[in-house]
Amino acid sequence: MVAVAILAAGRGTRMKSDLPKVLHSLAGRSLVERVLDSCSLLNLDKQIVIVGYQGEKVRQALSHRQDLEFVEQIQQLGTGHAVQQLMPYLQGYGGDLLVLNGDAPLLRPETLQQLVETHQNNQNAATLLTANLPNPQGYGRVFCHGDDLVSHIIEDRDCTSAQKQNRRVNAGIYCFNWQKLAESLPKLSTDNDQREYYLTEVVDYLSPVMAYDAEDYRETSGINDRRQLSAAYDILQARIKDDWMKAGVTMLNPDSITIDESVQLEPDVILESQTHLRGNTTIATGSRIGPGTLIENSKISTNVTVLYSVVIDSEVAANTRIGPYSHLRGDVKLGESCRVGNFVEIKKTSVGSNTNVAHLSYLGNATLGDRVNVGAGTITANYDGKHKHPTTIKQGTKTGSNSVLVAPVTLGENVTVAAGSVVTQDVNDNALVIARSRQKEVPDWHTDY
Ligand code: UD1
Ligand code: CA
Repeated sequence: MVAVAILAAGRGTRMKSDLPKVLHSLAGRSLVERVLDSCSLLNLDKQIVIVGYQGEKVRQALSHRQDLEFVEQIQQLGTGHAVQQLMPYLQGYGGDLLVLNGDAPLLRPETLQQLVETHQNNQNAATLLTANLPNPQGYGRVFCHGDDLVSHIIEDRDCTSAQKQNRRVNAGIYCFNWQKLAESLPKLSTDNDQREYYLTEVVDYLSPVMAYDAEDYRETSGINDRRQLSAAYDILQARIKDDWMKAGVTMLNPDSITIDESVQLEPDVILESQTHLRGNTTIATGSRIGPGTLIENSKISTNVTVLYSVVIDSEVAANTRIGPYSHLRGDVKLGESCRVGNFVEIKKTSVGSNTNVAHLSYLGNATLGDRVNVGAGTITANYDGKHKHPTTIKQGTKTGSNSVLVAPVTLGENVTVAAGSVVTQDVNDNALVIARSRQKEVPDWHTDY
């Protein structure tokens, strides 16, 4: 039996923020939510979140998650005091209790699973996650007898300068035999630099306590200030990008690329410099994205190229070329083998296949068929100041340069719109429409001689 308790009651003074630390966002998800997700491989009997500072806000932020129980730590007198609040709550519970700092968002589910296995296989009183850090400053140091049997944990601020040389740190991730922990919790003192009840002091009263080293020390990073928050983002990004490169994605200058965890990529996708992929985005094989591109919540099919462009909430079919400098603003569907070019903005529009919108256009609330050619500077005038109106352009139609299509309006199949036309009425299939004044020439106008 395993239960988990997440320590999320602290204010996080070093963040210098009104928002409780555990609600700060790391790549779109709060720290506490990431800590909860690190338990995904465990079969948990109970999931408890200990809240305190702005507890109502923390509860609210987690209200979409099922099966969470909240325990209040009214005054925040330290991590040991936080866990003491569980005593009435877990009275009689006979299983193990995982305790996780709410500010350790990079923990992998596999690591937590191994920690629990090590704990159970060795029948330890406590097992804690440790790591050897290149720069252990700020972390509690773990002192062992033998290789892995823990004798003390001393907080950085309580260490002598000799003790500070120890680079093995406490990650703030523990698995306890609850009954044994419950016997030790009342013994905690405040005999330390901060005058707080430290959870780490229970190590003095429990035996055996085992240290389990994380495979990758970066997993154990705790977030105490904004610099650590931004460093965690970099670690997370490096992890995501490494995984995609291993899966067959090429990245040119990966340091300049960012990818949300929710993004899905296929092998032989190429991502160039300054490409940012966010939200629910998928990109299929053979597509080349960037440089200088942002794609959010969009589905990009095979062999598409997107160059210096922004694509939001849209779908792009195979072999289509986008950019440079195109903006698909949302709710856009592009068919196969289309071309959308320089300074083109499209929104709420569906486009058939083999259609080109190559230069300087705006299309909004429009439906375009196959093989349409939208001439340079064509604009759908879709807004009358109050309402948006639809424009339909059927297959094979060509609009001349600088034409304005005043919606609602339908151009039939194979229509030709003369350059500079302002089209206000529907046009029949196969027609040529000219909607501009006829050119008039006045001879010998120039009289200045
Ligand atoms: C803690 C550990 C330290 C470890 C480090 C790992 C202690 C005494 N020290 O230090 O050994 O190396 O984490 O990152 O535990 N919290 C409460 N109630 C409180 C105080 C804190 O719920 O009264 C919560 C905080 O919201 C936070 C977590 O406990 O999520 C850790 O608290 P923090 O103050 O960040 O501990 P550290 O000083 O980092
Ligand atoms: Ca911390």
